[in-house]
Amino acid sequence: MNFEFSEEHLNVQQAARDFAQTELLPGVIERDNKQEFPYEQVKKMGELGFLGIMVDPKYGGSGMDAVSYVLAMEELSKVDASASVVVSVNNSLVCWGLETYGNEEQKQKYLVPLASGKCHGAFLLSEPEAGSDATSQRTTAFDMGDHYLMNGTKNWITNGNTATYYLVIAQTDVEKGHKGINAFIVEKSWPGVIIGKKEDKMGIRGSDTHSIMFQDVKVPKENRIGDDGFGFKFAMKVLAGGRIGIAAQALGIASGAYELALKYSKERKAFGKEIMHHQAIQFKLADMATQIEAARLLCLKAAILKDEGKDYVLASSMAKVFASETAMWVTTEAVQIHGGYGYVKEYHVERMMRDAKITQIYEGTSEVQRIVISREILR
Ligand code: CAA
Repeated sequence: MNFEFSEEHLNVQQAARDFAQTELLPGVIERDNKQEFPYEQVKKMGELGFLGIMVDPKYGGSGMDAVSYVLAMEELSKVDASASVVVSVNNSLVCWGLETYGNEEQKQKYLVPLASGKCHGAFLLSEPEAGSDATSQRTTAFDMGDHYLMNGTKNWITNGNTATYYLVIAQTDVEKGHKGINAFIVEKSWPGVIIGKKEDKMGIRGSDTHSIMFQDVKVPKENRIGDDGFGFKFAMKVLAGGRIGIAAQALGIASGAYELALKYSKERKAFGKEIMHHQAIQFKLADMATQIEAARLLCLKAAILKDEGKDYVLASSMAKVFASETAMWVTTEAVQIHGGYGYVKEYHVERMMRDAKITQIYEGTSEVQRIVISREILR
């Protein structure tokens, strides 16, 4: 057991911290107000290697481990969760899925541009009637001999309009239930891919969330990932890693709000002294710091298990449920410490409280994480 980070870990943490302060912080409130996607910032994150942190350099990635990914995600999310979700989805759901289960041709054609930051991707699983109940896919992709014909609608897709490539989960054989599901690489530019409405969200308003429709989209046979019927397991395996990314995002939102509350408590005076001298505030800060440290340890445990090639399904769901509930609670307390200032949009904690909520919903709600955890411990 060793709680020290390596020099490489500290370097990636510092690089992400510097980038967040210099490139993400300016304009973050405005982007949230205007629902503006951080195009420039995502481009720069690609150039710095943040879009393919864990991908082998031979496929354009940075070749780092999952611990580095957690550290980078925390730092970026402390400042701008709308930008960091692009990093999370591209790394965990898209690149990891392609690198682990794609064939060499798929990796050369799609993983290389995605991991090197030339473009980014999206993961299309959720549907109007298949959110938590992911086996109930209505999007179909029927085998037409030389291609699959895809039809259906996907909802709440992060990077829906800004992504170049999609990983789409679809039913290929309705009779076989979840064993008749496959995963496909679909190019957004293909005929029949229709970008639906942009969601007007409570939080992460700078991120790009759309519904996507498929109308008779011809998907080449070579774009199926893995063996026939592997799609549901593919989605579950990809999401287990994705939950580490979202847990780290939640951790970052919580620690960003905590740092602001701590700073504010040293500046703001009430009843003749800085509010940090009041025990009511001290106890809040103590609880916030403790919860955040516990969330950080759960995130790092899941990442270390992944790096060691061990099973991390239980650990990633524990990290996600705990970190996301911590983010919601800590950001609410941070608003409370700021008082009236915390309730207005000029102060970052207002946005952070809204951003925190999504971490309890996407990549599996808190309820889904509890299903996964209870199944693992009762097995
Ligand atoms: N690894 C490998 N296989 C797995 C697995 C895992 N982690 N979890 C389940 N499976 C397998 C099971 O072994 C089973 O296979 P067999 O039939 O061969 O035994 C099969 O998958 C079906 O599993 P379940 O019976 O457990 O399926 P279920 O219907 O009970 O659902 C669930 C389980 C955990 C609730 C799952 O549906 C789930 O995770 N739902 C949430 C989906 C989700 O996270 N959606 C988020 C959308 S993506 C997103 O948010 C991205 C974004 O834009 C930010």
